[in-house]
Formats: sequence, structure tokens, C-alpha cells
Amino acid sequence: MILVTGATGHVGGELVRRLAAAGVPVRAMTRRPAQARFPANAEAVYGDAADPASLDAAFAGVDGVFLMSAQAVGTAPEPTHDLALAAAAARAGGTPSGEALRVVKLSTLDGGTGDDPIARWQRAAEAAVTDPARGFAWTLLRPGRFMSNALQWAGQLRAGDEVAVPFADRPAASIDPADLAEIAALALTTGEHAGAVHELSGPQSLTPVAELAILGEVLGRDLRARPVPADAARAGMSRYGFPPEVVDAIMRRTLDGDRGSEVLPTVEKVLGRPARTFTQWARAHREEF
Ligand SMILES: NC(=O)c1ccc[n+]([C@@H]2O[C@H](COP(=O)([O-])OP(=O)(O)OC[C@H]3O[C@@H](n4cnc5c(N)ncnc54)[C@H](OP(=O)(O)O)[C@@H]3O)[C@@H](O)[C@H]2O)c1
Repeated sequence: MILVTGATGHVGGELVRRLAAAGVPVRAMTRRPAQARFPANAEAVYGDAADPASLDAAFAGVDGVFLMSAQAVGTAPEPTHDLALAAAAARAGGTPSGEALRVVKLSTLDGGTGDDPIARWQRAAEAAVTDPARGFAWTLLRPGRFMSNALQWAGQLRAGDEVAVPFADRPAASIDPADLAEIAALALTTGEHAGAVHELSGPQSLTPVAELAILGEVLGRDLRARPVPADAARAGMSRYGFPPEVVDAIMRRTLDGDRGSEVLPTVEKVLGRPARTFTQWARAHREEF
């Protein structure tokens, strides 16, 4: 049995569908099991990372777990959701097969590198999984920007053809969450990626403006980007709940350096086929716009 946390999310949702389609027993964790739509052969289970006691039933008797956290960096003194999920995996004890529990952790590019609040948060989150005392057969996925971030434009596109785009000219080699799910499924079902730290990107480095143009082609619309000034982007992040030092770190990481724009070979190496393009992602998700 594989437990997928974040099962209603972009990566977790793809992973649940992939495992269920392959006939792998899968348990899909959500805070709203009654509302969530999962494949008929997936088992929906309640779990809230903010309520550690609620996790034990979800983690019981599993051979592998996919861990993700939606807790925004800096909204607590430490990544309490990541820590609670990893602790629940440890409490679950042995697997039915007697092998080490396979744990795939969705992290972020340059996870614990550096010494800003983002690095410290990610370092603690990853360490909860890689701690040798826990004995997990772990795999870390460290992707850069997700193609699914473009779904943030969907509301504005229902109202018109113009979209406000922060960091409009900053390129990134964004990745399709479906590629992450495929790699996670491989790691969880084969155990071949134990101890691997996979830094991941998509196949092209594109600015948000270029992604919007591709989306426009797919939707048959002439879409325009309205760049958001840096100060307004900063204010938006504060409204979202990020504390000032985290906003500073996000600004520095986004505007200085070009790490996220690098095209990495990992998806092709692991899956034996090229990473999905933004055009493929947009075609697969056109109905959501
Ligand atoms: N977006 C990017 O560009 C990017 C880049 C690198 C890394 N990442 C990482 O990727 C992750 C986001 O993945 P995603 O896009 O697949 O997620 P998502 O689509 O944003 O979905 C969020 C998921 O988190 C679950 N969730 C929220 N609060 C929860 C709680 N208290 N307890 C348990 N589950 C909770 C939600 O489940 P329910 O609401 O159903 O309970 C939902 O399934 C984050 O950790 C982020 O740091 C993102």
C-alpha cells in the first residue's frame, strides 16, 4: 500500500491516478475525503498535517509514502507539517514486507542550500526524512518552478485576455507535475531510487511571458502580460502571509542568480524520455482555463 499526501494537489493527484491505473494499492490523504474525487480503486483517507494525531490511521500498514507539505515557509517557527508527516511515518514502524519504508519527499530546488529562512526551513524538512535514525529508504525530489503555477492566471483569463504577471521577464525551466509524479511512482514501486536526491526541471527555460504566449496559442487567444512591479509583487507576498524576511529571501532568489532557469537532464535520465514541454502541459490542462 502506498500513501499519497497532498493527494488533491498537482503532484499528488497525478500520482494517485498513475498508481491506481497501474493497479498499485493506493491510499489518498486529504482533509476532505468526502468531497475529493479519486479513482474508484484508490482509498480516500482523512489526514491533517496540522493535527499530528489524525495521521496515524493514514500511515498504518503502508510500504511507501509520498510526502508533501503546503505549509508556507516562515508561517511557523519550523516546518511543523513536514516534521509531523515524517514523525507519523516513523511511528508507523515496519512495513508489511519487512523492508525499509520507502519515502519520497517533495522538496524544492536548492532545498537546504544557503542560509536564508527558506534554506533553513527546507533543510529541517528534508532532514526529518533523511535522518539515518529513522531508517527510511528515502528519495528527495527537488524541482524548480511548476508549470501548474500558470493556473493562477485562470481567474484573470475568465475576465479578459490580459494577465498581471510578477517577475514577467525572469526565465525558469518549469516542470510538469506529471513528470514529478511519474518519478515518484517509480521510486515508490521499485525502490531503485533509495538515497537519491533528484534536482529536476522541465525541458526549456521560458519567461512567464513566453509561457503565456504558448498558452494563448493552445487556447486560440491573443493573451497579453501586464508586468507587476517588484514592489507590488512584494506586497502580494506579504498579503499571502509570508513574513518580511521570507519575502526578502524570495525576492533575492528570484531576481539574483539564474539557478531555476537551468535545464537539468534528470527527468530524461530517470524516465528514459524527454521531460514534458509547456505546450504539452497547456494542451493537457486547457479545460481548466
Ligand atoms: N509551485 C511551485 O512552483 C513549486 C516549486 C518547487 C516546489 N514546490 C513544492 O511543491 C509543493 C506543492 O505541491 P502541489 O503543487 O502538488 O500542491 P497543491 O496543488 O498546492 O496542493 C496542496 C495540497 O496540500 C494539501 N494540504 C494543504 N494543507 C494541508 C494540511 N494541513 N494537511 C494535509 N494536507 C494539506 C491539500 O490537500 P487537501 O486540501 O485536500 O487536504 C492539497 O492536496 C509545496 O511543498 C511546494 O513547496 C512547488
